[in-house]
Amino acid sequence: MDKKMIDAINTQLNFEIESAHVYLAMQNYFANKSLKGFEHWFQIQFREELMHAQKFMDYMNDRGARVEIRGFENPKNEFESILEVLKTSLNHEKEVTRRINELVKLANELKDYASLSFLNWYLDEQVEEEANFSELIDKVEMLGGVGIFMLDKELAGRSE
Ligand SMILES: [Fe+2]
Repeated sequence: MDKKMIDAINTQLNFEIESAHVYLAMQNYFANKSLKGFEHWFQIQFREELMHAQKFMDYMNDRGARVEIRGFENPKNEFESILEVLKTSLNHEKEVTRRINELVKLANELKDYASLSFLNWYLDEQVEEEANFSELIDKVEMLGGVGIFMLDKELAGRSE
């Protein structure tokens, strides 16, 4: 694998772990507010980000590239409202999508077809991630206090 691709994937897999921490902080914001459904939903989101990182790590190891684990900034822990959490999340996912698109661009330039094929999964996944948060934002904006209570119950039913 080209050194440029190895470095770019290392950056991305570390960003996936950073994303996991972003959602872990949000999970605990909701735990503190006794919103069990949101807490559950964000716990799954947290695990999903670790799975995204693991998938990149497996790919690197399969191709004989060296994985490098790095550090990152503290995530945001305090929020004004549910809506602020969700809008922060959607913006975060848009940034992830932008970065995945850059990876695809690099794979194209390097004619790294195996990486291109591998990255397709992430392109599809990002469409789903952005849609999930957009939908939640729409729902929360529509609902009042009792509605949030009902939505919280619905979110409690999320499975992997
Ligand atoms: Fe991710």
